[in-house]
Amino acid sequence: MRSARHARTAAGIGVQARNAGIIAYIIVKSKFLFQIILGKDKMQLLESLWKKGKFFLGVRYPIIAGAMTWISDSQFVSAVCNEGAFGCLAAGNMEPEVFNEEIKKTKELTDKPFAVNLITIAPFYKRHLEVAIDNRVPFIVFAGSYPRKPEIERVKASGAKVLSFASTESLAHRLIDMGVDALILEGFEAGGHVGHVSLGILLQQVLFKVDRVPVFVAGGIATGEFMAHLLLMGAAGVQLGTFFVLTEECRTHPKFKEAFIRARARDAISTPQIGSDLKVVAVRALRNKGHDSFSDLQIDLIDKRKRKEISHSEAQYQVEAYWTGALRRAVKEGDVEMGSLMAGQSVGLVDQIRPLKDAIHLLIEDAEAELEKVKERCQMF
Ligand SMILES: Cc1cc2nc3c(=O)[nH]c(=O)nc-3n(C[C@H](O)[C@H](O)[C@H](O)COP(=O)(O)O)c2cc1C
Repeated sequence: MRSARHARTAAGIGVQARNAGIIAYIIVKSKFLFQIILGKDKMQLLESLWKKGKFFLGVRYPIIAGAMTWISDSQFVSAVCNEGAFGCLAAGNMEPEVFNEEIKKTKELTDKPFAVNLITIAPFYKRHLEVAIDNRVPFIVFAGSYPRKPEIERVKASGAKVLSFASTESLAHRLIDMGVDALILEGFEAGGHVGHVSLGILLQQVLFKVDRVPVFVAGGIATGEFMAHLLLMGAAGVQLGTFFVLTEECRTHPKFKEAFIRARARDAISTPQIGSDLKVVAVRALRNKGHDSFSDLQIDLIDKRKRKEISHSEAQYQVEAYWTGALRRAVKEGDVEMGSLMAGQSVGLVDQIRPLKDAIHLLIEDAEAELEKVKERCQMF
């Protein structure tokens, strides 16, 4: 009897000792993990944060220089890739033959992976798609609207990876269901064609919830600090456009860059839409005379419509024709008054032209310094 009780007591002590051992192990282990995080040097942290994006794109830095029509040509894209970031060749409204040449030139100038950016609503879209597939480009980014499922399947069958812009939560889920390999989640702060939802909202609706595909984040990013926090939030990488305009390798008319240097964040506005009769595609660009007279044109057309002097389709055509060629005039000819100075609100964060290499390294150094600050804040708890 006594020995049975002894045995039970001994067994109880054994269980307690084992539990205490497990608890001690967990404490030591989590302290160890915590020490690993805190002990990681700056670059190691950045490396582990953007590992997924690096692997997906096959680059040193998963920093995407977003495609910019009339800007992102073979020279610029290859320069970006050769600096370790990821470039996107803009098909824009290029003649398909020229686009074909540009892809070939990019391949000659870099052995690194790059993407081609196709605008699904562009006049030559279908031919651009054929050219991209024929050239076996490693990545295709769909922009404008969204691709059809058979197009995604064809691109994937060619061996390329598919990325597509998502500017709303529902579109993000739809694209994933259609089979895209990654998303570019872009907030309405961005330059160029934009949606209506801010990046802050999209992060909460999509980035925090989606783990089926890598999510690259865009719109309003122009500092390493912000990049670091987006990576901490789970972004696979980032995409910047406006920031890269102010690099030496970006070949625009000097007046286009000067306008960027002078501009404040609030100068980058979305195209004004007067009334609801005439549809206006939202594009974020620096406010100039062109914007103001676009509003005047709409008012004039609305008046004419009321007086039944013009049909709806003719008025709509005039609205759409207004900006045709306007980006090229600004980028190539320096027409900063009437041309389209596409820029994001991040224009308020950039004010000097740097060599591409320095610009990329600035982002990385600032991200590393920011992660150090985050570590210090964590140590306070
Ligand atoms: C001048 C300019 C032209 C652009 N052209 C394109 C384009 O042809 N295709 C596209 O998908 N995005 C285009 N964009 C959007 C960029 O690729 C990128 O997603 C955007 O600039 C990110 O926002 P940010 O300007 O705040 O960095 C353009 C942006 C700018 C500023």
